[in-house]
Amino acid sequence: MRVARSFSELRTLLPPSRTGRIWLVPTMGALHDGHGALIDRARSEGGFVAVSIFVNPLQFGPGEDLDRYPRTEEADLAFLERRGTDLVFLPSAREIVPPKRQVTVSSGAVGRLFCGASRPDHFDGVLTIVLKLFHLFSPEGAVFGEKDRQQLFLIQTMVRDFDLPVRVLGHPTVRDVDGLALSSRNRYLSPEERKQASVFPALLDHMARRWSDLAGRNPGERLALRSELARNLEEAGFRVDYVAIADRQTFSPVSGPEIPVQAFLLAAVFLGKTRLIDNRELSSSV
Ligand code: PAF
Repeated sequence: MRVARSFSELRTLLPPSRTGRIWLVPTMGALHDGHGALIDRARSEGGFVAVSIFVNPLQFGPGEDLDRYPRTEEADLAFLERRGTDLVFLPSAREIVPPKRQVTVSSGAVGRLFCGASRPDHFDGVLTIVLKLFHLFSPEGAVFGEKDRQQLFLIQTMVRDFDLPVRVLGHPTVRDVDGLALSSRNRYLSPEERKQASVFPALLDHMARRWSDLAGRNPGERLALRSELARNLEEAGFRVDYVAIADRQTFSPVSGPEIPVQAFLLAAVFLGKTRLIDNRELSSSV
């Protein structure tokens, strides 16, 4: 496995005929089997598999967990080696976020909704780094997890709006046996909180089932499931950041009276100090 820590090393270590051969998996490290699945997916597309690890300061707000975000370089490198990664890129903050940087990608109206409402500038920071990585690697494609639905939608939107020659693939969320979506932040949970956390995906599953059971009924009845879910989450000990339904095509909030056939249920909660996010595809015909 090749390891590049600077742009110049990256240029030397990437395969010579770049275009069309590289599949990129951007990460912030603290790797787990969810990342492993993204790497496997990238490999299945053929070509050279590159993984970047960079804890991007631009996507953290004041008072968020930038300083305590897990940094586990040695374990990550061993994980990537085992997973058959061809190249790992570990850029320095100075190089990838130059001190005199002035230009930022704007994530637009959708970037200010849902996670963006409670994390202003978060998606601008994500898109700015992802654009830079796309520029550095010129990959044929890149793979992102569907747990971060809104992020995936915005990256796909950036690629469309800027005509970037990159295929962006979403990959299904990998879950623990009790249904909790794998996330680097799960390691913040105490053993007690970790047990309690499994109620979050279970309640989302419950709501998704009720949503399809109520297909064809009054939209108000179905949309009321949102507040019911929020109430159930609070009763189970979570602090709800948001529960929302978004149109699958446009990511705009669904508030009736029209309900699209395909939508996403999106939710973010706090358990103690840990923020958990998850989502479900809602379908009227399931
Ligand atoms: O999903 C993540 O880990 C990050 O948001 C990403 C895409 C690597 C950008 O920093």
